[in-house]
Amino acid sequence: MPDIDEIKESKRFYSDIPYRTEGFFLKGSNSLDWGMKNRLARIFNPKSGRTVMLAVDHGYFQGPTTGLERIDLNILPLVPYADTLMLTRGILRSIVPPSMTKSIVLRVSGGTSMLSELSNEDIAVDIEESIRLNACAMAVQVFIGGEYEKESIINMTRMVDIGTRYGIPTLAVTAVGRDMNRDARYFRLATRICAELGAHYIKTYYIEKGFETVTSSCPVPVVMAGGKKIPELDALTMAYNAIQQGASGVDMGRNIFQSESPTAMIQAVRAVVHDNETPEKAFDLYNTLKN
Ligand code: R5P
Repeated sequence: MPDIDEIKESKRFYSDIPYRTEGFFLKGSNSLDWGMKNRLARIFNPKSGRTVMLAVDHGYFQGPTTGLERIDLNILPLVPYADTLMLTRGILRSIVPPSMTKSIVLRVSGGTSMLSELSNEDIAVDIEESIRLNACAMAVQVFIGGEYEKESIINMTRMVDIGTRYGIPTLAVTAVGRDMNRDARYFRLATRICAELGAHYIKTYYIEKGFETVTSSCPVPVVMAGGKKIPELDALTMAYNAIQQGASGVDMGRNIFQSESPTAMIQAVRAVVHDNETPEKAFDLYNTLKN
């Protein structure tokens, strides 16, 4: 018969309870390392599996875009409602207080302006900067079918390689040239190429026909890009449709910060993304908060 001490001891070790091995909640991400998963879990809410990324990085190629002239005054008040802030290191260091605890997706590609060929980008931020700035992901523009297609793809694969060394995921942002067909075939091609070459998640535009084939043929999470400012109800409808058709969130800029009431709009977008709210109900919420 075991003595009393031994019984107590085996109780503390819970020898009869097996360790739990839980899968990771994000599509295609289960085989990533702990640090990668932890960073992704700071971008995507583990409860809903989705994210509201607030994109304010436009200045890296187009200067002070309408709504982003004073990020301190116009954008910082929106931060509490976002899951993630997507921006450049310049704005992060100069304007965002380090006491802010939201996750950061750092724009790391650049080198061109709206006055020149946009696809001719390079990597514009060292990996050490992403580490120093505590980035949860690094965003690289990929121009499938663009003049500098190959260079932009290689920018992305380089960041995937370097980021993997340090546990920082890479977000591939699919950029569409003016003369390209914005259809399901193009976006399936662009998102799948990025995923095959290692991007951890992908940002792409919504399309009316066949968006569900884009999300389903992409093995990693897809987030919807906002695009040009459209009426609030239309933007909420677009976000709703994208989510219902398999998007894991949105990365919206102009449709939030150029809205008549950015604070109300971001909360309405949140309702659509995290609570599956219908566009009509989210628009009611927008109007209530706006007034
Ligand atoms: C553009 O390349 C930038 O990455 C923006 O973050 C992106 O366009 C999303 O912003 P918007 O919703 O305004 O299109």
